[in-house]
Amino acid sequence: MQSTLQLTHPTKENLHVAIIMDGNGRWANKRGLPRQAGHQAGVAALRDVVEASPKLGINMLTVYAFSADNWKRPADEISAIFILLKRYLEREMANLVKANIKLTTIGRRDRIPGEIASALQHAEKITANCTKLHLRVALDYSSRDSILAAAAACHKVMPKRAIFAHKLAGRETPRDVDLLIRTSGEKRLSDFLLWEAAYAELYFTDQLWPDFGEADLSAAVEEYHRRDRRYGAVQDAASTAA
Ligand code: FPP
Repeated sequence: MQSTLQLTHPTKENLHVAIIMDGNGRWANKRGLPRQAGHQAGVAALRDVVEASPKLGINMLTVYAFSADNWKRPADEISAIFILLKRYLEREMANLVKANIKLTTIGRRDRIPGEIASALQHAEKITANCTKLHLRVALDYSSRDSILAAAAACHKVMPKRAIFAHKLAGRETPRDVDLLIRTSGEKRLSDFLLWEAAYAELYFTDQLWPDFGEADLSAAVEEYHRRDRRYGAVQDAASTAA
């Protein structure tokens, strides 16, 4: 039975974790700071989580940094997020290579400011052969739009799930999400990895993203390992279903 498109069965060493990093604005509001300060603190939290991921058996981490709907935000907030991203790329690249972390993005590139798009291209190039962790940053991303684009590429032929997953993943090898975390108490997926998270374990926490760190990620991964993933089967059959 093909109930999932996971090409490799998740073990304690090859988890794909996806994170909706929510709550930066509220974190800043609570402190009487501008929203941008929340995003800045959010980048620091991301740095901690990236560093902790390989220790927790995560070899793919997909983070939602900017959704296609985030263009509706005020222009100064949007530009602050892109400035933070640029700084992150400038400051972290050497560390990423040293830590053997590959960085790529998912989402549209054509609406991203030119110098950021070039910096991303450079980052992808110099980390291309890194293998310890694959960090994927979702930027100008909409899962619905990605699914529509993959469907359009199927030229009216009803594809098998695995073929469709390859179209959806573009140049990457398709990977299902094992664990999807959303911070800040919101409990929705907000157009993030809707196909890839079909069998993901969902983990919601009230913590605001800037307060989320290694201990919290570890607690989420522990909770994941306590869950019983059955992929729609009964317990004994599920171990052979993926
Ligand atoms: C959601 O919080 C957060 C975002 C839309 C932006 C997340 C971006 C970063 C952490 C920085 C990106 C940079 C890098 C390096 C990837 P919110 O603003 O919706 O918070 P709120 O719901 O409390 O208002």
